[in-house]
Amino acid sequence: MSERLEDIAQAMVADGKGILAADESSGTIKKRFDSIGVTSTEENRRDYREMLFRADEAMKSCISGVILYDETIRQKAVDGTPLADLIKAAGSIPGIKVDAGAKPMAGFPGEKVTEGLDGLRERLQEYHKLGARFAKWRAVIDIAEGTPTWGCIKANAHALARYAALCQENGIVPIVEPEVLMDGPVATHDADRCYQVTEWTLNTVFDELFEQRVLLEGMILKPNMIVAGKNASSQAGAEEVAEKTVRCLKSCVPAAVPGIAFLSGGQSDEEATQHLSLMNELGPLPWKLTFSYGRALQAAALQAWGGKPENVAAAQRAFTHRARMNGLAATGRWTAELEKAA
Ligand code: 13P
Repeated sequence: MSERLEDIAQAMVADGKGILAADESSGTIKKRFDSIGVTSTEENRRDYREMLFRADEAMKSCISGVILYDETIRQKAVDGTPLADLIKAAGSIPGIKVDAGAKPMAGFPGEKVTEGLDGLRERLQEYHKLGARFAKWRAVIDIAEGTPTWGCIKANAHALARYAALCQENGIVPIVEPEVLMDGPVATHDADRCYQVTEWTLNTVFDELFEQRVLLEGMILKPNMIVAGKNASSQAGAEEVAEKTVRCLKSCVPAAVPGIAFLSGGQSDEEATQHLSLMNELGPLPWKLTFSYGRALQAAALQAWGGKPENVAAAQRAFTHRARMNGLAATGRWTAELEKAA
């Protein structure tokens, strides 16, 4: 495969394909495993992820890349094959989460700033050797009374841009992820407030990317959709989410960016798919619109697996179904009938 940043970025958003976010940190994967009564041991984490990466049909036809966690990119399958090689064998690209998490921001009560720039160059060089050709850094912006503040948005946008520049210096495509949360501690805001904060955040992020000389053709944006907070008194309908999200992105994201791969953020599996499909139906658009889902791609497979080897085939079928539905959505061809026909 070509090593040019532009070519890697294009491959990440190839027609009908999207990204599997399987980069849950140790704390997050423990929560997921707790929900199915499975202990989060290194072996169980390996078995679960190996199950996903060996779901050949899903991986080959719908998954352009997989975001891994530090532990996973170093792990080997039961037969000794590195997990990153399983991904490559399926024609998909291994990626790596490189941020060190969102930490309380000094002087900004209730807000967070993502850490992880120190030593990042050296870590990127090692990850490149381990096979990673793209990376992810997630900033979180929470909406509540009086927040977000300019100081928090600016600090997070600056860190994202510094990260993106370092990735590109080392032959790695940065996924730039500024997530305006729908499931923060308050989360009573409506979709219009989400629009306002997302627009503010994205404009600030693209200013910083320009100042840090980031090549837009060699990056992928991973934003939230424009939705109301999960505790809001009224939720936006699917058409409204699609229309507002596309309008917001058109006003903030330069056409030089090859693709936008959404996070699911707490939406149900089917909502995340439907929203993506409706947005693609609003085309033509200047960039590809696809998925980089964690929960919305894995929830059904995780349930079906339940930590039992005898459930591997059923879990792979569940994952393949979601991957196929989202693959269709990435070209605006998903329908509720296809969802049920499976
Ligand atoms: P969700 O789709 O579960 O929000 O996860 C995507 C992700 O990678 C968040 O950083």
